[in-house]
Amino acid sequence: MENFFAGPCPVTSDDATPAVRPTRRGVVAGALSGLGALALTGCEAQSRGSSSAATSAQRASWTVASGPPRQSGVTTKPGTHAHWVGLDLPDDATKDELRRALVVLDDAAARFVKGASPLPDVAHELAPRAGDVAIAVGLGPLVFDLDGMRAEAPAWLKPIPSMTLDDFEKPWKQTDLVVQVDTDNPVTVSHVVGQLVSALKGTATPRWQQRGFAAGARPSDGGVTRNLFGQLDGMEQPNVAGTEAGHVWNAAQPGASWMEGTTGMVIRRIRMDVDVWQSLDRTAQENAIGRRLTNGAPLTGTKATDPIDLEKTDELGLTVINPAAHVPRAMPKKTGERILRRPYSYEVARDDGTSDRGLVFVAFCADVVRQFVPIQQRLAEADLLNTWTTPIGSGVYLLPAAPRPGRYLGQDIVEA
Ligand code: HEM
Repeated sequence: MENFFAGPCPVTSDDATPAVRPTRRGVVAGALSGLGALALTGCEAQSRGSSSAATSAQRASWTVASGPPRQSGVTTKPGTHAHWVGLDLPDDATKDELRRALVVLDDAAARFVKGASPLPDVAHELAPRAGDVAIAVGLGPLVFDLDGMRAEAPAWLKPIPSMTLDDFEKPWKQTDLVVQVDTDNPVTVSHVVGQLVSALKGTATPRWQQRGFAAGARPSDGGVTRNLFGQLDGMEQPNVAGTEAGHVWNAAQPGASWMEGTTGMVIRRIRMDVDVWQSLDRTAQENAIGRRLTNGAPLTGTKATDPIDLEKTDELGLTVINPAAHVPRAMPKKTGERILRRPYSYEVARDDGTSDRGLVFVAFCADVVRQFVPIQQRLAEADLLNTWTTPIGSGVYLLPAAPRPGRYLGQDIVEA
């Protein structure tokens, strides 16, 4: 899949929770089931030194079209439907269970992105066409504490410090693993997710699942989708195909060559009070963000590509853009405070006939502490948008580089 966030952007322009490993009470499910067993057999063959052309081709398909091996689902064009599953390894897992989970995921995902089905999947008609689905797999902080792991977690791989506006709810907590699947067909998403979860049975247990949708962008919206507040969301992005690739992708680091091609993923579930928001007039809505609803232009300009002028004042001498609006608060204050956002909307029906609506806010960056946390802290301190938004879940993950031919996903980390 090609880089999507390439070329010019649409717009030019601590009290950290310690990563304490909870007591693992679960029983390791020794027996592998279905696909898991098959996939592990394949891996064991590889680790004894044999590999096949078919395996190499599968591995290569995890990568974006060119350049270093990187997982898809980051800079590839976001599908209109996405699904995330957070999973935990058993409480007494060692690196062997992690390895098993990664081998299983690697095998199944490599087949799906190639347009094939994993072996136990009999519903071939539901498999995506080659290149139609992007699958990304992330590791939570605690997997680096597993018995037998030698690779050390990067310092940024830890939960986002808790903020005053957080109101986290079960079950949206940090997990050991996350799997992200995105494509344009919701049936395909459902099928692929179901197969991946089933392949992991006995190895990793799902703790939560989140589904997101992003309206196909209208031509007049310049390829950017709208969230449930009606805003163009995801306009200002780093140019990841050019000079700003380093904001997202890590280079090899001393003693950790496996860091090359990794990235950090933050997933926040943010409830949005859409009903109250829709009772505001459009001026109040635009003031809260600092951009126009029609075309995303800054309130100091007319086109989406106009630069934001934070100094411009009106006839009363007040700044046209409220300094507490979302965009001026989120804009980088230091070099490198840039993140790649892939926002999706969610809507879940409640038992009382109403619905819970919001954003599955997903962002990627090379160093979560340096790039993401300062932005989140500023937004927590002051952001007009906070009146209508509440973070209800949060997780941070490291996405390993895509596997090199003959290796499984994350092998360089597990067997460092
Ligand atoms: C429900 C919650 C949120 C909504 C509705 C929202 C909406 C928006 C909108 C409409 C824009 C302007 C258009 C654009 O550039 O995409 C924007 C910009 C931005 N948002 Fe958010 N956002 C939310 C949460 C967050 C969070 C949690 C973060 C990070 C901690 C964040 C970071 C940013 C950044 C970095 C920009 C670009 C600022 C710039 O112009 O440089 N947003 N957001």
